[in-house]
Amino acid sequence: MKSIPHPIQYQGSKRNLAPVILRYVPKNVNWLIEPFSGSAAISIAVAARQIAKSYLINDLNKPLAELLRLIVDSPSETASFYEDIWNEQHSDSVEHYYRVRADFNRTQDPRLFLYLLARCVKGSVRYNADGMFNQSPDKRRHGTRPKTMRANILGVSTLLKGKAEFSSLDYREVLAGARPTDLVYMDPPYQGVCGERDSRYYSGIYHADFVSALEELNSREIPYIVSYDGRRGDKTFGEILPASLELTHIELEAGRSSQATLLGRDELTYESLYLSHALTDKLAHKPIDGRQPKPQQYSLFEPITHYV
Ligand SMILES: C[S@@+](CC[C@H](N)C(=O)[O-])C[C@H]1O[C@@H](n2cnc3c(N)ncnc32)[C@H](O)[C@@H]1O
Repeated sequence: MKSIPHPIQYQGSKRNLAPVILRYVPKNVNWLIEPFSGSAAISIAVAARQIAKSYLINDLNKPLAELLRLIVDSPSETASFYEDIWNEQHSDSVEHYYRVRADFNRTQDPRLFLYLLARCVKGSVRYNADGMFNQSPDKRRHGTRPKTMRANILGVSTLLKGKAEFSSLDYREVLAGARPTDLVYMDPPYQGVCGERDSRYYSGIYHADFVSALEELNSREIPYIVSYDGRRGDKTFGEILPASLELTHIELEAGRSSQATLLGRDELTYESLYLSHALTDKLAHKPIDGRQPKPQQYSLFEPITHYV
């Protein structure tokens, strides 16, 4: 299988975990719905396996959702725009980055955002209190080469063209349209941050609102997967989802923490996945709940075997 294309560098992207998450995606999904799509890594991975008929890609961050739409619907133009802007940077690439950033904050042009994401520190978006993008450039790199970017853009377009819809709504509005034949994959903003202010993403969410939204999905028998809290060694990040939601909790080994390694500790990080009962009912082999004494662990590069 050819490697999966990824034009958008995005902090928190699930591209590396996608092969494991896809183990819990049943066959024959009608709509794959990603209310917190970010770079849409899961939609892209599911489309590469041709598992779902259609894709609903939503992120409250409007330029990001618009950028994904442009990549899918106008791939050549989007790649050429990137190439032009990338080629302009060489006289003084740092000064050029700050100029593009100011233009982006003024116009919200999603094509400028693609360049900023490719060029900023670790693809990690940062916003100030006024919602202005304020991340600095990575001074050691010039960003993805235009030829590689074009191949990634065309790859994603081939996978999703004619099959995807894009929006930038609050996740609750997106969930209202889900049906039992769909699958919702949710990766909300990092849980260590409370409330709606999260400088690391365009917006944060409230834990209590999110729990109510999941209760509502349960009552409508909607299959869903949530990536939520995580754990490094014995330290858990984020709030636990309540047992009343009756979710199956699975822990995925996500690698060694570089911070812990620097401090001479050898700690693994784990990411949690929660599966709704409407989803596990569809899986022929029931996944084991990770809250049992030994967490279920997977290599990130295992081949996919479906549970159905
Ligand atoms: C952890 S990131 C998702 C990363 C994604 N799984 C990927 O692979 O790139 C969370 C996303 O949720 C978006 N977001 C924050 N609040 C939201 C809301 N209320 N409704 C919809 N999206 C929201 C953020 O803009 C951010 O892109």
